[in-house]
Amino acid sequence: MLNLANADLLKSQALIGGKWIGGAGQFPVTDPSTGQMIASVAECGAAEAEQAVLAAQEAFVSWRKTTAKERSAHLRAWHAEILANQEDLAQILTAEQGKPLAEARGEIAYGASYIEWFAEEAKRTYGETIPGPSADKRPITIRQPVGVVACITPWNFPNAMLARKIAPALAAGCTVICKPANETPLSAFALAALAEKVGIPAGVINILCGKTDEIGLALTRSNIVRKLSFTGSTAVGKLLSAQCAETLKRTSMELGGNAPFIVFDDADLDEAVKGAIICKFRNAGQTCVCANRIYVQEHVYNSFVAKFSKAVERLKTGDGRSANVEIGPLIHARALQGVLSLISDAVSHGAEVKIGGELHSAGEAFLSPTVLTNVTNEMRITQQEIFGPVATVVKFSLEEEVVSMANDTEYGLASYIYTRDIGRAWRVSEALEYGMVGVNEGIISNEMAPFGGIKHSGHGREGSAHGLDDYTEIKYICFGGLDK
Ligand code: SIN
Repeated sequence: MLNLANADLLKSQALIGGKWIGGAGQFPVTDPSTGQMIASVAECGAAEAEQAVLAAQEAFVSWRKTTAKERSAHLRAWHAEILANQEDLAQILTAEQGKPLAEARGEIAYGASYIEWFAEEAKRTYGETIPGPSADKRPITIRQPVGVVACITPWNFPNAMLARKIAPALAAGCTVICKPANETPLSAFALAALAEKVGIPAGVINILCGKTDEIGLALTRSNIVRKLSFTGSTAVGKLLSAQCAETLKRTSMELGGNAPFIVFDDADLDEAVKGAIICKFRNAGQTCVCANRIYVQEHVYNSFVAKFSKAVERLKTGDGRSANVEIGPLIHARALQGVLSLISDAVSHGAEVKIGGELHSAGEAFLSPTVLTNVTNEMRITQQEIFGPVATVVKFSLEEEVVSMANDTEYGLASYIYTRDIGRAWRVSEALEYGMVGVNEGIISNEMAPFGGIKHSGHGREGSAHGLDDYTEIKYICFGGLDK
């Protein structure tokens, strides 16, 4: 049972046009650590999604006319309220998602940092003045909101992924309809409750979940919705992109990854081990920027494996609310079965289980942190996103060889290299076909940086000075007939 200081944060209905409403039915949200039900949530479908679209359209009429300074003030107030309720929000997050409380607190601060960032950026939505083609003309550009935006978000960061979409949308003057994952809607509802509390007008933020396919279709088919921002799997991203083609919606797609983590002979090995641990095991390996393939150069391979395995052995697994736990459950037992099948496929092709590889006694969704060695690039586990606490270590000899192995994937989100050779750091960073590269860094996400991928990892950038671009249209205005 959740024991919150602010019980008003625990909502189980959809928010549409400023009203909390029920759906045609209910569905359970369960705690992945215990399997127990935490809440019974309104199950919405196409009808409620269409209602939400109309509410967002109506709210857009006045929200788009507010000044950037007014929108900024709303976002700042929301940011402050989120931080004031950080502990409750973290408790909700851990209960429905499973990550350790310390990580959940970190995610609340991380999500809030996007709201603070875009509160600042809202005021810098600049246009341009352009030298005219003739003396009587003054071309200029202004930036305007794209309109009503649909945001579809995953269960691995139920707070931050939503905040990182809603914040730039609102800053630009757009209104939103959000569809959080059915596994973790409570964090999204709590964010919406705080937005309501600080006076963000009715209909500016609408949130519903339930029948995912129906809601997705209603949002993507709508002509009123002018943009979709999606974070989730590549397969679903492709499906949604196809659905959006009919109405030529703009899309931002933050999709799957298969991050290479490359350790060269000249790396600071202790730093590389530290970076690999946080990069691989954050959120029990359920992030799309996780190190999916750890490539280690031959001369340091044995020492890296020894140090890394020792560090993995020390990781404490358990219920995210227990003291010092670093690895929580997977989102559900089904997900765990998928990860186990990748491990057994790798082992059947010659991989060796150095540490872990089996279910953990903490519960049916827990897997012991695992290290596999003797892994090759041909195995399913290195070709697919693992999304679990399993590290695969591959030995390599040459720089060109590792760059080619690292790029041998359809994905292109995050990548990491550890080296103290500055020439190599530049050369390899430029050669890696990824949207992001960490050099001697295992955690690269923050609100100031452009987060996003290339190839089948999607397109668009979240955060940074570029983050508003996806939510604004450039309008060119030509002032002509001026005195020469
Ligand atoms: C993700 O896994 O989708 C996001 C991870 C991050 O923001 O660092």
